[in-house]
Amino acid sequence: MSINKTDLIQKAKKILSNNLRAGFTIPTDGLYPFQWNWDSGFVSIGLSNYDIDAAFSEIRSLVSGQWENGMVPHIIFHSQNETTYFPNWDFWDAAVNPGAPHNPKTSGITQPPVLGFVLEWIFNNHPNSQKVFGFVKEMYPKIVGSHRFWYQYRDPHEEGLVFIYHPWESGRDNSPLWDDALNTIDLDRAKLPIYKRRDTTIADASERPTSKQYDQYVYLMLLGKKHGYDGQGIVEESEFLIQDSLINAVLIRSNESLIKLGKILGEDVGQLQEWQQQSISSYGTKLWNEELEMYTGYDLRHEKQLPYREIGGLTPLFANIPSAEKALKIKSYLETLVNNNYLLVPSFDVEHKLYDPKRYWRGPVWPQMNWMIYNGLNRYGYTDLATIVKENLLELVSRYGFYEYFDAQKQILDTNHGGYGGDKFSWTASSVIDLILSE
Ligand code: SER
Repeated sequence: MSINKTDLIQKAKKILSNNLRAGFTIPTDGLYPFQWNWDSGFVSIGLSNYDIDAAFSEIRSLVSGQWENGMVPHIIFHSQNETTYFPNWDFWDAAVNPGAPHNPKTSGITQPPVLGFVLEWIFNNHPNSQKVFGFVKEMYPKIVGSHRFWYQYRDPHEEGLVFIYHPWESGRDNSPLWDDALNTIDLDRAKLPIYKRRDTTIADASERPTSKQYDQYVYLMLLGKKHGYDGQGIVEESEFLIQDSLINAVLIRSNESLIKLGKILGEDVGQLQEWQQQSISSYGTKLWNEELEMYTGYDLRHEKQLPYREIGGLTPLFANIPSAEKALKIKSYLETLVNNNYLLVPSFDVEHKLYDPKRYWRGPVWPQMNWMIYNGLNRYGYTDLATIVKENLLELVSRYGFYEYFDAQKQILDTNHGGYGGDKFSWTASSVIDLILSE
């Protein structure tokens, strides 16, 4: 199929302008009508290619919801008029933590810490601009503060690996990675309040998490709330306490960016370098799985690795973590997928019985993940494979439109239905823009 890149860029820009609200971009109308943390990071990378002021505004809006403890929440509820999303600001009730802002209202958990590398991308797109330099200077301490939050509140053994206590923090809500830990929650004893999901009235229920998973999400959210969303009780009580491969790789990638930018700004980067050294070393020893020949997560509550091949395990390439030898193993995994007629990059092991080609993070291809893996493969000089990662995404988007996620089975391209979840999706648009314009 021939891909019309000029047309893709035009359509992508239109989606971003339609999804623009008062100074920030929603991921997609209806399903996600507020500002999401890592979505906005990717959106501002896309925007920085053609509208730098909009890119600034995106990030400023996001950090306007930063907590006193440094956390940048995963949702910022700038408006309270939207009724199509659960859980909303009332249900979160972030005010249980005295350091949460009153305005804007926010959720009580966070998401992959993309802002460090986002800032570097924006800077690299305009290395000689005084205005951009000023913006980097303005944002730098806030983003360093968000890394301090991770190391201070989420690394109880001070090993340089941070934990998440909710699947929503991972960004990969219903990945099979989480099944075992979530299933240790005793939902019968949990006495959950009655709540009403909204997502399945907008997106197809077969492409979304199950109702049991939603109960588990609500349970963990209430556990967080009970402890002010950052208390020590979370470490003591949560059944779900995971050192995630993606979160930690993104943190390391963002540390790298903050160290580079800090030197340019003339800041003392000693603390960042200390964190970075320890994180890279622990990541390499604790999260590499020799049998899978891939990185994986670690369940801190049940003290074991998560024995699955999953997309987070590929993201260390983006953070320059693997040795050449380990990178080669990851490359072979991707080449096998290509040879077996899969489009890159499926979010879960296609050979595993838990693989599901349609259901959210249990198999589909995700645009922003392709963006990270594309950049990661290029770092290691695997440019041919990187091109496949890019072209596969562009082909899916050309074929089906700017969906939230896509089927990874190559034969799907002969059918009319291969794009799933939300439509006219912002990070799909911004990933396409950046992948094409940075060629
Ligand atoms: N991704 C989650 C949702 O579907 C929350 O961020 O609501």
